[in-house]
Amino acid sequence: MLTARIAVLVSGGGTNLQALIDRQGDGTLKSGQIALVIADKAGVKAISRADAAGIPCEVIARKEDGFEEKVLAALAAHKIDMVVLAGFLGILSGDLIGKFGGPILNIHPALIPAFCGKGFYGLRVHQEALDYGVKVTGATVHYVNEIPDGGKIILQKAVDILPGDTPEILQRRVMEQAEWVLLPQAAEIVAAQIVQEKENTL
Ligand code: GRF
Repeated sequence: MLTARIAVLVSGGGTNLQALIDRQGDGTLKSGQIALVIADKAGVKAISRADAAGIPCEVIARKEDGFEEKVLAALAAHKIDMVVLAGFLGILSGDLIGKFGGPILNIHPALIPAFCGKGFYGLRVHQEALDYGVKVTGATVHYVNEIPDGGKIILQKAVDILPGDTPEILQRRVMEQAEWVLLPQAAEIVAAQIVQEKENTL
């Protein structure tokens, strides 16, 4: 069966990667195949998640010379059709985005255009939402362009903020109720479009 070959870029715990792996396993993510994981630093838990799932994993340190060239080379070597940024903390340049040419998706832990942009990642996003006093937050999956969190929105899901929430409690709820649901759904939508394009050229 034709599938879209997916590379997942990670920087940390890899819970979003794990959601993609689990949904591929239960057939929800049926049009895509996770063919490569790229971690931008060694020793992160996402690497062990890739290893446990038997997915090829490369560590390409973001601070390394030629980081983007090495990422592009790995994507080409593994014949990658689409990229998913899953807890990835790097910012990809417009040059890399243009050279890769395929769709790149990112999961952001807020309802873009709220609480997003340069410097908004991890716990800070949830701290800002709590400080502002919003009653709902959530997560967004969007296409990546050269503007941090600036690409076209694919899916969003709202999550209630509850009395007594701390950034850590809120982050966990957003991950469980929104991120881990949306990212596989969005990956399937985009992968299915790629498969359709492949079938049209047969
Ligand atoms: C989470 O806060 C997620 O919202 C953001 O990166 C953090 C860790 O994600 N994208 P993961 O567990 O490494 O997938």
